[in-house]
Amino acid sequence: MTVAIDGPASSGKSTVAKKIADHLDLIYVDSGAMYRAITYIAIKNQLDLTDQNAIVNELNQLVIDFKRSDNGQMVYCNDVEVTMDIRQNDVTNAVSLVAAHPDVRTVLVQRQREMASSKNVIMDGRDIGTVVLPDASVKIFLVASVDERAERRHKENLEKGIESDLTKLKQEIRERDHKDSTRKVSPLKKADDAVEIDTTALSIEEVTGKIESIIFEKYPEYQK
Ligand code: DC
Repeated sequence: MTVAIDGPASSGKSTVAKKIADHLDLIYVDSGAMYRAITYIAIKNQLDLTDQNAIVNELNQLVIDFKRSDNGQMVYCNDVEVTMDIRQNDVTNAVSLVAAHPDVRTVLVQRQREMASSKNVIMDGRDIGTVVLPDASVKIFLVASVDERAERRHKENLEKGIESDLTKLKQEIRERDHKDSTRKVSPLKKADDAVEIDTTALSIEEVTGKIESIIFEKYPEYQK
């Protein structure tokens, strides 16, 4: 089984995907973390972020891994744990630029498909239902208002001890939406066969419940 969850920044994708992965024993693949990981390494190595070839060369030497731990899922770059580093503001603000390079996407899409080829996965991102896993068994597209998404990200940042300014966050979310939806390669777009859920007024449990009902309709054997 493959479940694709797409949607804009802070629409709740990763939170619900992790919960569903836990409930139904699926492997959770955070594709955004992969774009963040290469962006983090490129910044760390002072690469020119507009230099696609330099970034792809770096990516070809970079192993990005996810490992489960008691503190949730950890992200590793060549065996170094980078879970928090890739969530910092410098990475968040640069990642759209790196994710717009077609060759970077080709490499990461290939790795994402490999991860889904032999396991039951739930994968979240922007182009999972449209490009990475067009044959996904279940496709969900989550949306929420900019204000709601900024509030969520603000709360999340404060909880993680990351500096946060709500007005700036709204502006950054708008900019990121614009960049992610207007880029030439694999823009953020709802797949024709995806189910759209507006999460603005819904709790995490309500969104999780709705998606699980959609999965159970197709795979009753997953309903315990
Ligand atoms: O979901 P996120 O905020 O962690 O994603 C980080 C960035 O990566 C986001 O600006 C868009 C990009 N991204 C992408 O282009 N394609 C994906 N499948 C996932 C994320």
